[in-house]
Amino acid sequence: MKILPPSSKLSIKTLVTTSTAFCLTAMATLAGSANAQELSPPVSLENATIESTRAMANELLTQLGQKLKLAMSTEGPEGAVSVCKETSPAIAKSLSSKHGAQMTRVGTRVRNPVMGTPNAWQKEALAQFENRLTKGEPAANMEYWKVVDIDNGKHELQYAKAIMVQPVCLSCHGPASEIPTSLAEKIRIEYPQDQATGYSVGKLRGAVVISKLLN
Ligand code: HEC
Repeated sequence: MKILPPSSKLSIKTLVTTSTAFCLTAMATLAGSANAQELSPPVSLENATIESTRAMANELLTQLGQKLKLAMSTEGPEGAVSVCKETSPAIAKSLSSKHGAQMTRVGTRVRNPVMGTPNAWQKEALAQFENRLTKGEPAANMEYWKVVDIDNGKHELQYAKAIMVQPVCLSCHGPASEIPTSLAEKIRIEYPQDQATGYSVGKLRGAVVISKLLN
């Protein structure tokens, strides 16, 4: 796998992208020293691609946020679990087919290991976000962009947008001791491998991730 456009830091980034042996801390350190190109959209991207990719991520977050707030106020957190479980993948799927891309959500810690576990480049994006947040960069609209060469000479766009924890998230992702018993029980039954509690407001919860074939 090779990163486009050409960069003097190619070797470090290729290493970060392809190695699964690195632990997250090591990746954060490397990504932090080699991320300049990924802070803004690569020059090889057309404006239309940049705009539609951003729009997809924002649309998912907006629709989800609205549906979550509505369900929380009408059905309470137990009823709202279905928004995260069913509505989120449904919206992501419909926007993905509309835009000819693949979009999903991944977590820094994961509740649904099938849907929400980041792959190598998505882990790299999350590690980079943590690093930028530690350095004081504002969380709003924090994005990661990369265009990579895939085997047959085609290019793939890899895009991530940071998802931060807001107060509304806490009933299901906050400290385990603060989650109401019946809700905790429901989550435990549906997600026996749940790791996604213990967050506080302002922490990185995960990312909207999009990959798209460019040609
Ligand atoms: C009503 C409970 C509930 C609330 C409130 C909630 N979530 Fe979740 N969240 C879930 C469930 C359940 C899943 C697993 C969904 C699935 O099966 O894919 C999940 C999954 C996720 C994932 C995907 C990664 C993973 O862990 O599987 C992200 C990212 C996420 N939530 C972020 C948020 C954010 C940000 C908020 C606040 C804006 C929020 N959630 C509010 C219940 C909730």
